[in-house]
Formats: sequence, C-alpha cells, structure tokens
Amino acid sequence: MTAHAKVNRLAWWQEARFGMFIHWGVYAIPGRGEWVYYQEHFETGEYARFADQFNPKHYNPAEWVALAQEAGMKYMVLTTRHHDGFCLFDSKVSEFTAPKTAAQRDLIAEYVEACRAAGMPVGLYYSLEDWRFPGQLPHLPQKEDSVYAPMVEQAHAQVRELCSNYGKIDILWFDGGFPSSVWRSEELIRMIRSLQPEILINNRAGLPEDFGTPENVVVPEGRPWEACYTMNDSWGYALHDHNYKSVSEILRLLVSCVARDGNLLLNVGPDAEGRIPPEAVDRLRRVGQWMKTNGAAIHGAGSSPVIAPALGWSTRAGDKVYFPIQRWPGSTVPFAWCGSRVKSARLLATGQEARVEQRGDRVWLHGFPECPPDPDLSVIELSFDGPIQANDPAYT
Ligand code: GLC
Repeated sequence: MTAHAKVNRLAWWQEARFGMFIHWGVYAIPGRGEWVYYQEHFETGEYARFADQFNPKHYNPAEWVALAQEAGMKYMVLTTRHHDGFCLFDSKVSEFTAPKTAAQRDLIAEYVEACRAAGMPVGLYYSLEDWRFPGQLPHLPQKEDSVYAPMVEQAHAQVRELCSNYGKIDILWFDGGFPSSVWRSEELIRMIRSLQPEILINNRAGLPEDFGTPENVVVPEGRPWEACYTMNDSWGYALHDHNYKSVSEILRLLVSCVARDGNLLLNVGPDAEGRIPPEAVDRLRRVGQWMKTNGAAIHGAGSSPVIAPALGWSTRAGDKVYFPIQRWPGSTVPFAWCGSRVKSARLLATGQEARVEQRGDRVWLHGFPECPPDPDLSVIELSFDGPIQANDPAYT
C-alpha cells in the first residue's frame, strides 16, 4: 500500500472529525459498566445467564443513526463483542451470541442495515480478548502462550465473519489485544484487508495500522488519530453514573481535537432495552443545534496557521479560519502578529459582522456583544485578503 493510497483511504474519515462510539452488550443488565464480569469475578455460567435475559425490545438502530446524524457525527462504531465475549452478531464459532440466546436476532445486521440506509459509515468494534478463556481472568489458570490458542482461533474466525457477512465495513476498531504476543496480528490484518480493501483499522491489534486511539485524553500522535471519550465516566451502561459532560465541555473537547488534526469518537452506553440514556440524548441534540450554525469549524477542518492561544483553539477549513472562543474577551476581540490582511470577521451564531481594525500586525474586531452570544461556545470566522500566513512563528 503506497502512502498516497493510504491518505486517500483516510480522507473521508479525517473530514468527518466526529463519530459516535457505542458500548452495548449483556453487561447493560447489571448496569455497572462493561468490566463487571472481570471486576466481580463472575463464574462463566453465572454471567451467561444475562444473555438469557438480553432481549432489547426498544432496540431501533435507525434511531441511533438519526441521533448521531442530528449531532453532526459522521460515522459510528458499535461493539460487536466486548471483553466478555458476548457477540451481538451471528457467529458459527460461538454459542454466546444474541441470535442464539434470548434476543434471537443478529443485532449487528440490523445496525449495519440502518447505517447504510442513512448513508452512515459503518464501524465495528471487536475485542480480541475474551474473558471466558483460560489465562484471561485472574482466577483462571494461566500457562504458556499456547493456552490462548482456542481464543485466538475464535477471534480470527469471528473477524472473518464480520468482514464477510455484512457487506462493506468502513472501520474495524480493535480492542483488548492482551497479551500482545499471541494474536498473529499480521496475518489477521492481511485477511481483513483482502476481504475489505478500503477498511480503516485502528492500532489496538498490536500494530500501528491506520490511526492511533488515545483514550479519555487528547494526545496528538503525529499521524491520523482519534481520541475516544466517555460522555459520563463509563463506556457501558452504568445505572448510577450521571456525571455527564456538559455541552460546552463536549464542544471544547471536539474543537481541541480538530485544532490538532484529530477526530473525536464520543461514546454512548445504551441500556439493556436498547435505549440511549436521556442525558446523552439531550446533550447530543444540543450539540446538533450548535453544529447547524458552527459545523464549518469542525467538518473538513483541521489545524490553523493563525492562532490566538489567549482566546482558545483555532481551526481552518479552506480559506477560512475559525476561532471557537474559549475565553471571550468582550466586545472587542484582539489578535496580534497577524501576517495576513483580515478582510472580514463574523460571528457564526448570529451572522453579525465585526468592524475590523488592522494596524500593522495587530488586529481588533470591534462591535461584538459584551458576553459570548452562544453560552456553549461562540465561533468567529475570519476571511483574509490573499493567502493565510502563519501569525505566530514561535508556536506554529
Ligand atoms: C479499554 C477498555 C474498554 C473500552 C475501551 C474504549 O480498552 O477495556 O472497556 O471499551 O477501552 O476505548
């Protein structure tokens, strides 16, 4: 694969900038997050009983897709199975699957269909690790690497199923590649790429592949990257976790990724019936409202050569620079060291144009409101006469 072909493959994803992550499985029944099996040392048979109750009556993936679209999210990644080994999809090599237990349906087939019907790129998360196998949980026997062979065989077979049975898959999002020595990852990736030549693969099968995945931190990687974040403090449904980030925090997080050429994959954890918690729905709708007037600063945008650290991050898309102003300075917004001529400046929230005063390399945008007009995050769009110059050589 040439570097050029790789860039083209990634282009849609880098323009998208914002995606929905969904952690969903039988762990939603106890409602204490997706690590409950491990954390509480469940016996395998005892845990398997959740699958006999997992029959999500309200599961309607078209609604999830519509919510993601409303929020301005341009792709989705759903857990096809997490570390507990429960598959939301039909698998010939496992009995612990939704179609073979209470749900009696291939929930992944329905998700893929809903995404396609809405033109939403399809991402599948797959945990290599499966806690039901020897050597996995602290109380299960651990010997040499060979003890993992059945688990590795199953993973290869299931990844083949995911890449063969659902048409075109846009993203394969691995997780749980522990221990890293056992997965035969090169062979696995070769198989995936032969079945799905355009697919994007993350770095968690132990190989760097297409993009890095900083988790609950924003750490640029000098190559394509995507920060994945919980919206409250949990990935899987957690009944008592109401510590949701505010809309303003979510927007700042998103901007801080885009301004450093990264993506944000923001998680929701639906309940056992298939409902996304109302706090998450509410926030995503309000993010969507913001996106309607400010989306130009996000979609198709990336790092900007014009910066103003005192105000917050900035992004650039085409010939425009966007300042989502984190620290609103009042009715006059000052910039310094501006090498380019500012032609005009307007507030995206209201369309209001500023009076631009430029003296040498100093610029003042006058006439804006005293207080930020959008309580969540107000964005100013700058247009320039001529090419955009980096304004602060010390920091760009
Ligand atoms: C971690 C956790 C997991 C979560 C994931 C999301 O690897 O084990 O529960 O799915 O990160 O990035």
